[in-house]
Amino acid sequence: MTLSPHSSSTIELTVELGARRYPIAIGHGLLDDGARLASAIDGRHVLIVSNDVVAPLYLDRLTAAIRRGCENVHISQWILADGEAHKTLASAARVFDALAAMKANRDATILALGGGVIGDLSGFAAACWMRGIACVQVPTTLLAMVDSSVGGKTAVDLPQGKNLVGAFHQPRAVIADIGTLATLPARELRAGFAEVVKYGALGDADFFAYLERNVDALLARDADVLAATIAHCCRQKAGIVARDETEQGERALLNFGHTFGHAIETAMGYDGLRHGEAVAVGMVLAARLSANLGRAPAVDAQRLSALLDRFGLPTAMPPGLDPDQLIDLMRLDKKNLSGTLRLILWRGIGQADIVPGIDARAIRAVLA
Ligand code: NAD
Ligand code: GLY
Repeated sequence: MTLSPHSSSTIELTVELGARRYPIAIGHGLLDDGARLASAIDGRHVLIVSNDVVAPLYLDRLTAAIRRGCENVHISQWILADGEAHKTLASAARVFDALAAMKANRDATILALGGGVIGDLSGFAAACWMRGIACVQVPTTLLAMVDSSVGGKTAVDLPQGKNLVGAFHQPRAVIADIGTLATLPARELRAGFAEVVKYGALGDADFFAYLERNVDALLARDADVLAATIAHCCRQKAGIVARDETEQGERALLNFGHTFGHAIETAMGYDGLRHGEAVAVGMVLAARLSANLGRAPAVDAQRLSALLDRFGLPTAMPPGLDPDQLIDLMRLDKKNLSGTLRLILWRGIGQADIVPGIDARAIRAVLA
């Protein structure tokens, strides 16, 4: 497989949801594109939600571009503390306070400037404020560009579990400025590659092989390879979301590795592994479980683990976690049905399945 080169031009995609649709733009310098931002903004009020790492880097540029693109728009900002530990109801309440202080009615747009934490929280706040206002996603991490900014899943975490409170609320637009990845710390870039590998693992063996050939270029942030890869992931996700917006079936495949990963994140108090790192471990556990259950060749689990390892991602359980606690946490996962454990397993690279009724003893064996 080769992906078409894209480094200089902006890639334009569309998420089609029946009569509804929205654009995804992927390119360089889009933070400065006032006209594009203006076309995505709805109403007289814009609240930019960001965090104290991303805002000092990009908030001024974004604000200036909106001012150039829109007349008579009241722009305000709400800057949260950084980190998954702040993807909470309390942070959402602070966003509501900011909207109330602006006297925002439904004539407001939230603009999420940051990674998946800011994106999920902002989308959730937009879904709730006056039962729903526009949200524009401006992702600044690789993970957010390839996954969380697209598809309308919004949520906050509870101490009891990740993403337990949320809503489906599609963004008005996704505007991904690849230039922002230049400042992304290496660990965060690597974490994003876990979700990239996920797309190959769950349904696209050719893309998996493409990633195996391009690890070095991707880690070196080669602009051409990175843009083509982000676009490929967004296309795959847009297709799945178009067929199954609210996860009645196929969309659950996007959670390959996530039930394990979310349990690990929760058990570590949202302050241990990065989300992508936990997903990397979770995908390896799901692949090993598939092999143990006789559903998939063990060699594919090894190939997955080897690719994640080349991306610098963890592939083994962090020490000190209690398998029984993890299984309890996995029981609170949204994919479970009628109290039984339902996981995304695979038949091998590129062939994931939704598998209900998994015996907790088989899960404990891979967690031990
Ligand atoms: P994150 O939002 O915490 O960002 C990672 C780190 O990078 C943070 O410290 C952030 O401040 C920093 N950062 C962001 N952009 C930067 C930039 N350009 N330069 C320098 N630093 C930058 O984490 P993430 O990995 O982007 O997202 C993880 C979250 O996404 C999790 O909460 C996960 O549950 C969620 N998620 C949601 C979906 C969905 O469909 N809604 C899908 C996947 C993941
Ligand atoms: N990240 C999983 C989904 O969007 O469905």
